Amino acid sequence: MNASVSLFSPAKINLSLAITGRRADGFHELVSVVAPLTFGDTLRAELTGADDGAMTLACDAPGVPTDGSNLVLRAAAAFVAATGWRGGVRFTLEKRIPAGAGLGGGSGNAVAALRALERLSGITLAPAEAERLAAGVGSDCPLFLHGGPVVMRGRGERIDPLPASAAARLRGRRVLVFKPDFGVATPWAYQALAARPDWYADAAESEAALARWIADDTAPAERLLANTLERPVFAKWVALPALLAWLRERHGVEAARMSGSGSACFALLAADQDEAPLAATIREAWGDAVFLQAAELA
Ligand code: C5P
Repeated sequence: MNASVSLFSPAKINLSLAITGRRADGFHELVSVVAPLTFGDTLRAELTGADDGAMTLACDAPGVPTDGSNLVLRAAAAFVAATGWRGGVRFTLEKRIPAGAGLGGGSGNAVAALRALERLSGITLAPAEAERLAAGVGSDCPLFLHGGPVVMRGRGERIDPLPASAAARLRGRRVLVFKPDFGVATPWAYQALAARPDWYADAAESEAALARWIADDTAPAERLLANTLERPVFAKWVALPALLAWLRERHGVEAARMSGSGSACFALLAADQDEAPLAATIREAWGDAVFLQAAELA
């Protein structure tokens, strides 16, 4: 048991995101290859010393809710409900991952909170229990229980680590992540897609394409890239496809996509590629308020 812990809470990107239809419960069925990044937030948790079960959250970034709606406190409440632990905990979140980005910031924070509470309480959740709690907090939470690239299925609750040879083609790849000064609300993106059922990806084809990529040891990360949510999101926020077209035309960058429901996008970089010219084009298109971050796939 520790009196305080400090955990890295990574961002993620969806290298592929095939959304194949809507389920009876309103969520969407998907197949996605997701990788955590070497870039993220820091979540600190310390025991208050009071065994009153009180959990509080402070955050250095303006605009981040610190009440019970924050996924850190939702995960903490789920931990308490599952374990009956009554410790008092003060969480402090150093926020670097932008919200409304499709980078999984809040979801990763939730899983970091579960891990922090395990360490503070001395209670270790069984893997299936951790998965159940994480899935209850949000569709993008379970993927963060694993330390590397995974295949996510169902509404996000079914996670399979990639085979080692496929994961090795992703790990260490450099990416440039960029987000304009507006975000996209995930429910909006899914609703806009649901209004165009002809835009859903074919489930069998998506699985077959993924199986081919996994089996082909020469297939680079570039060959995975796809995102079903780009069509509905790009139709409304035209600044996103406009910039990706500039990156293609001016810099020959084909491997650039939106992550998740956006609005963050990313470009895969070659090992020795200078990102400065791309960053200049991104700033020219989206202005100086743009979020720009180089990182590696973890
Ligand atoms: O699970 P989470 O709270 O992250 O989902 C946010 C919203 O995104 C859901 O309410 C739903 O509208 C949409 N969503 C979906 N299918 C998924 C994941 C999210 O329709 N697989």
